Amino acid sequence: MVKDVIDFYYFSGTGNTLLVVQKMRDVFTEKGIPVNLHPMERSKPDNINLNHTIGLGFPIAELSTYNFVWNFIRGLPETDQNTEIFMVDTLAGISGGIVGPVYEIVKKKGYHPIGAREIVMPPNIFYIEDEETSKEKVQRGLIRAEQYAGELCTGNSQWDKSSIFSRTVYYTSLAGLKITESSVNQKLLHLKTDEAECKSCGICVKLCPVHNITMDEGKTPEHGFNCEYCLRCTSLCPRGAISCPFNYQGKTYHAVKAKEFLK
Ligand SMILES: Cc1cc2nc3c(=O)[nH]c(=O)nc-3n(C[C@H](O)[C@H](O)[C@H](O)COP(=O)(O)O)c2cc1C
Ligand code: SF4
Ligand code: SF4
Repeated sequence: MVKDVIDFYYFSGTGNTLLVVQKMRDVFTEKGIPVNLHPMERSKPDNINLNHTIGLGFPIAELSTYNFVWNFIRGLPETDQNTEIFMVDTLAGISGGIVGPVYEIVKKKGYHPIGAREIVMPPNIFYIEDEETSKEKVQRGLIRAEQYAGELCTGNSQWDKSSIFSRTVYYTSLAGLKITESSVNQKLLHLKTDEAECKSCGICVKLCPVHNITMDEGKTPEHGFNCEYCLRCTSLCPRGAISCPFNYQGKTYHAVKAKEFLK
């Protein structure tokens, strides 16, 4: 059961996870539990306060999550204070069981896992649904987020341990993430900016969580070969100038505006 201040560390590529995290924050706050939201891309795991309850929020990617999210989770310090921890992820439908492997990591470090939940939200990759379907899915997802936060407050939430199935998917997806990182893949799926459309506003440079985009003053930005494919830049470029080679007809999705990530 959450008793104390919550430090909620999250990453959200296109806004689904951010909406879920904000909804949970609102529930905790209503119950008198203070919450600090920390974007993972601007946080260091070794700086966390072990006297607070720790929340982790992130999207599912490739049946797993992004490498830098894993680095954050694996980088959490050990604790001998029985620090409470919970997680929430958002996904389009299939996760393959990340919940168990994260449980093992935090348990080994001495944390007290109090809850994990996977919340279906609209897909932001491959096939982007129409606006009405996406909105309905967001509403259903936020109801689940509200319920989950309530359960965390009353001590009724659970965190499943690793099953053999989830371990198998975990190790397979780690191999998938290695392929994503590989230079062959980074060259094949290199995001590109359309010079004619780009207005050199620099928003994409500020949005990229792994500093993979650089731009000389007044020029068109360049994408490096360190992309995590979170799709933030391509989904939130105000000019739609960045290619999205994964999505049907290049259509993109975003649940919030760019300014939400630039605060
Ligand atoms: C590169 C990439 C891989 C994804 N892989 C999966 C997946 O394996 N399973 C799934 O259900 N959704 C997958 N998704 C969809 C997202 O998990 C889902 O839309 C999520 O809510 C996005 O959260 P965000 O808006 O906070 O980034 C993937 C999305 C991206 C960009
Ligand atoms: S956000 Fe879009 S318009 Fe702005 S610099 Fe990047 S690619 Fe160009
Ligand atoms: S370049 Fe774009 S898709 Fe790749 S990690 Fe940065 S913001 Fe995400």
